[in-house]
Amino acid sequence: MNQPNATSFPPRFIWGVATSSYQIEGAAHEDGRSQSIWDTFCATPGKVLNGENGDVACDHYHRLENDLDLIQSLGVNAYRFSVAWPRIVPDGRGATNRTGLDFYNRLVDGLLARGITPWPTLYHWDLPQVLQDRGGWPARDTALAFGDYAEVVTAELGDRVKHWITINEPWCAAFLGYGNGIHAPGHTDLAESFATSHHLLLAHGLGVQAVRANAPGAQVGITLNLAGAYPAVNSEADKAAAHRQDGFANRWYLDPVFGRDYPQDFVDLLGAASPQAQGLVLPGDLEIIAAPTDFLGVNMYSRNVVEDAPGEGFLGLRQVHVAGSEYTGFDWEVAPQSLTDLMLRLQKDYNPAALYITENGATYPDSVEDDGTVHDGARTRYFQQHITAVGDALAGGAKMAGYFAWSLMDNFEWAEGYDKRFGIVHVDFETQARTLKQSGQWYRDFLVRAQEGQPA
Ligand code: FCB
Repeated sequence: MNQPNATSFPPRFIWGVATSSYQIEGAAHEDGRSQSIWDTFCATPGKVLNGENGDVACDHYHRLENDLDLIQSLGVNAYRFSVAWPRIVPDGRGATNRTGLDFYNRLVDGLLARGITPWPTLYHWDLPQVLQDRGGWPARDTALAFGDYAEVVTAELGDRVKHWITINEPWCAAFLGYGNGIHAPGHTDLAESFATSHHLLLAHGLGVQAVRANAPGAQVGITLNLAGAYPAVNSEADKAAAHRQDGFANRWYLDPVFGRDYPQDFVDLLGAASPQAQGLVLPGDLEIIAAPTDFLGVNMYSRNVVEDAPGEGFLGLRQVHVAGSEYTGFDWEVAPQSLTDLMLRLQKDYNPAALYITENGATYPDSVEDDGTVHDGARTRYFQQHITAVGDALAGGAKMAGYFAWSLMDNFEWAEGYDKRFGIVHVDFETQARTLKQSGQWYRDFLVRAQEGQPA
């Protein structure tokens, strides 16, 4: 049931797995890497479950060749990873660190030698701490520093890398980082959080400029975490709450990236906390942010079902559980139909040149059993349902061009430390042993059929 039809995807469809630098690399204090806001946050008592950190993580930095072989063994044709800014420009701005660049040269060359297309993300949350000390993302200078850093990375890798993602999930970096403080740097200030959102979008635009200048013919886009917003019941009050949620999570980022300025209803809702009221949207910013891109990357895990709740938070709403729905280990509803709906809506409302699912996956408590296997049936079903939903979106007219499973392997799951496993490969964090889970076996076998054009 719900087995995706491998033959419904075009032969050139991109099938990948995704990771990010801080979550897998380790080697946090080696080869000239400076401290990131995540190192600082992890060292702050009470911020990360069990006081864990990314010092070692999956030790990917030292196990690069083996991990590249592992990626190849999955049969994917693309690998999404991120570049760690503190390895490349340790002082945030200024001198570049050759050793850091060479790590990514080896990574890119190793992928290409194995026939795998590299898909780097320039920023997946590991801001150099020195830049946080100078104001962090609420300061416009951080976006300008990002532009310089993007210039360095694209100049170095742009001869070989033809697909670039500028920023990963600005909503998370802005709101979790500066709004509710669950992520680094752990600030709780609504105005800072919305200043951050504007500067991250500005950084995206500057990143697009760097890719255009240094990697001619390459494709570039941003990755947003988007989730359909649904009213709990079909009342005017809940529908209005869902519209506010949609403004917060989706339209706030989509509208300016696609050239429509920020949504006025949400600017009004924010009042003094909006970047407009703070005087941060300078002439020319919106043009930079709206530079044409080649695709939209979407990280999709679930949907939001909300009810009106006057006085609750600045949005006046509350997330609700849906009776009869299944939830993953993060308490996220399994809602594959919402992926199809979201893609069709994006195509209709924003008309991106192409759509990629740049992350999709689920966490469940896994263990390696005595026979050496990880029976992660719920995760396998999750992938089957969501890949089916991608196929449905494609059939419905959305320009779906690729899908990346999150994640290649279990890793450091931010504030949840190593407790939440998302990998299709299990990692034993004591021994660093990697074990392909059943979901990984299923994905590998599915990709054989998809790439041969065989029926499922
Ligand atoms: C996304 C992040 C990714 C990972 C998944 C589970 O928000 O981009 O790094 O943590 O969630």
